This record gives sequence, C-alpha cells and structure tokens, in this order.
Amino acid sequence: MINIRQFKKLLLNRHPHCAIILGSGLGAVADSIKKPLVIKYSDIQGFPTSTVAGHKGQMVIGTLGKHEVLCMQGRFHLYEGYHPSIIKDVISSLKQVGIKQLIITNAAGSLNPKILPGEIMFITDHINFSGLNPLIGENDEKIGPRFVDMTSAYDTEMRKCFKSVATKLKIKTHQGTYIFVTGPNFETPAEIKAFRILGADAVGMSTVPEVISASYCGIKTVAMSVITNFGAGMQKQKLSHEQTLACASKGATNLTKLIKAYFMEK
Ligand code: HPA
Repeated sequence: MINIRQFKKLLLNRHPHCAIILGSGLGAVADSIKKPLVIKYSDIQGFPTSTVAGHKGQMVIGTLGKHEVLCMQGRFHLYEGYHPSIIKDVISSLKQVGIKQLIITNAAGSLNPKILPGEIMFITDHINFSGLNPLIGENDEKIGPRFVDMTSAYDTEMRKCFKSVATKLKIKTHQGTYIFVTGPNFETPAEIKAFRILGADAVGMSTVPEVISASYCGIKTVAMSVITNFGAGMQKQKLSHEQTLACASKGATNLTKLIKAYFMEK
C-alpha cells in the first residue's frame, strides 16, 4: 500500500502531465503504452476500487507517442455506491502528482437523431441531472474555490486539436451537450423525451462528476462519448444487444485511434 507522497515519488522520473480516463471497451489505449508502470487502485491509500465488470481498476503510466501519460483503466460510478466526493479526491490526487490535462471517454446513449450509434460526440457542455455533486462538503481553498465557474469546463483548445486529428483520420465526430444521470437503470421513454426538450444530445452515467472535479482543481479537460444506442423509445424496433455491441466496438476502435494519433501528432 502506498500513500500519495510515495505515489508522487513513483511518478517523479515519468512526470505525466496528461491523464486519460478510459470508459468500458476502450482499454486498448492503455495496451499501446510503452514502458508501462502499472499501479492497482487497491495499492494506493484512500483510493476506492472499481466494481464494474470490464473495468480493471488500475493506472497504467508510460509513453504514448512523444508523451508521458497516466491512463486510468476503470472509473468510479456513483451507481456503484461511492460517495460523490471520492471522485473529487481521485481527481485532486491526479492534480497533486502533476496532471494538467485530462482526456475523458465514456459510452453514452444518443438523444439526437443525427448522432448515430457507433459515432463519436465531443461533449461541449453538460446538464447535471443527478442532484449530486462531488464538491458538496467542506472546502479546502488550497485545492480549489468554493464556487466553481463552469463556463470553460470543456477546453476549447484541446477539443479543436482533437477535432483536427479526427478530420485527418476521416473519423466523423459530433459536438453536443451531455446529460448526467446516476443510473444504474436506463432511462424511461418519458425521461428521454424530457431530456431532449431540455436540449441534451447524449445521456450517460459518468464523466460529469469528473469534469466538475477537474474544473475545481484547474485541470483542462476534453470529453468524448462513444454512442452505443439511441435513448429509450427513440426507435420503433428494439435495438439488439449484438447491434449495440457492434456499434460500441466500432466507436471504441475509432476513439482509440483518435487518442493515439493525438499523442503522436502533438
Ligand atoms: N443511457 C445511459 N447511459 C448509457 C446509455 C443510455 O442509453 N448508453 C450507454 N450508456
């Protein structure tokens, strides 16, 4: 078991300044990391362990292209029962070990008929529909302010950079607003209808607590969704599980390519 000081020491001769949070099905990014140093969450003091199947619960630190990166394979969802402030603690430990930029990926349902399963959406803004917030509780002004400005939570420059890499790779991307629900149930058709009226383009059960925490700590963030399905009630025919998996895999392959190319180019 290591504490945050020892964790920092371990990263001393690596000094990654970019962290990547990998959603389900996106583990291949970590497989491309050269000279990997793997640290299990369960070996870091105060770190919770991920309970979702397919989420590994470890960090992989090493070289991607010309850069040192820290990949989180496995994230903490509120539906697993974690207290929201745990996400603030995790993100602020990334800040403490020198992380300045964050790339967040997730799987999401589409609320916009123009954004199809298998495609990628850059998140440009969000609606926190959970009623929960990782920053609720006592505030440590040394880490971040009590009242956080969310106007630039999704960094325009990082997004522009990703967008130009996607264009070069001929990968179709969209931009839109993500609405965050805790889950774990999928939405009802009435909820999907309401979310569309609210102006959301995609719905999912992650990312927003991480983005709020990153804004709080002053970490620049880009977030991308792999669209795996249309929201409940948006299609007449039931989406087959096989079709969902095939779309998720196509989107994940493209997003993996995109992230790798981003680091090769920069
Ligand atoms: N709803 C919420 N989260 C999701 C969905 C969805 O339809 N698809 C993938 N993650």
